[in-house]
Amino acid sequence: MESVVVGDMNSENDVILNVNNISVKRSGKQVLKDIDFKIKRGEFVGLVGPNGSGKSTLLLTILGELISQQGSVSIYGLQPASNRLYGKIGWVAQAASNLPKDIRITVRELVRLGTVNGKNMFRFSDGGRRKRVNKAIKMVGLEDEQYTDVARLSGGQRQRAVIARALASECEFILLDEPLVGIDREARNTLLKLLDNLCHDGGKTILMVSHDLAAIRQTAHRMIFLEQTIKFDGPSNEFPDLEELAKLRGIGNVHSIYDMEED
Ligand SMILES: Nc1ncnc2c1ncn2[C@@H]1O[C@H](COP(=O)(O)OP(=O)(O)OP(=O)(O)O)[C@@H](O)[C@H]1O
Ligand SMILES: [Mg+2]
Repeated sequence: MESVVVGDMNSENDVILNVNNISVKRSGKQVLKDIDFKIKRGEFVGLVGPNGSGKSTLLLTILGELISQQGSVSIYGLQPASNRLYGKIGWVAQAASNLPKDIRITVRELVRLGTVNGKNMFRFSDGGRRKRVNKAIKMVGLEDEQYTDVARLSGGQRQRAVIARALASECEFILLDEPLVGIDREARNTLLKLLDNLCHDGGKTILMVSHDLAAIRQTAHRMIFLEQTIKFDGPSNEFPDLEELAKLRGIGNVHSIYDMEED
């Protein structure tokens, strides 16, 4: 597995995300417990785990949407809710491709929304924004579809449009929750390659949740296996096989692992 070196990876300055021993309850139920890890600039981290293991909860806590009972999260040394983080973080939500079907919006309009901020909201012509929109659409390979209604796209194209919206915002740290669901193998590979390139050449940092263990393991540099606590965190090529994974999870029956390979 290749590893990226952007600057000095051992420098504290390169730590983009610091999740410091957090525990999170939802509706009184302990969902995350003692989660502790850091992500450095240029890393592509795959976050995996069975249904209900707390993956989305972890992303929402990193984004400041949920509050931890214990511990802290910092992004670029700031608290998640800090407005100084505005525009630095890109977020592609779970089932992002399930945009409402009745919304009439073209790919280009959707991507352009990613460039809206408090300063430029009422400015209609802005060359900088136009360039960023063009670049983002090109990066995800949707130039031919840019004037097409989002509702007419395939699942994979729609997912790429949502990713382009995040890219157009020129964020540095991108969090994606299950971006591969409902897209075919070819589109999936294109998307993974795009994300990998963003980390290698584009200087972005990615934390991505996926059920597609095989696909994410091939692309991400590092894997985190979450099931209320972190059961594995290390280079993708050291990710445990099914039998080892069953042991880590304290499950005797290896087949119960398959509940996380559903798509
Ligand atoms: N809005 C909510 N209110 C209360 N509990 C919730 C809420 N959303 C999720 N939970 C609970 O938190 C736990 C973790 O859910 P979470 O959505 O983080 O899991 P996940 O790993 O993302 O699962 P999936 O793979 O199905 O997306 C589950 O037990 C779930 O029932
Ligand atoms: Mg989830």
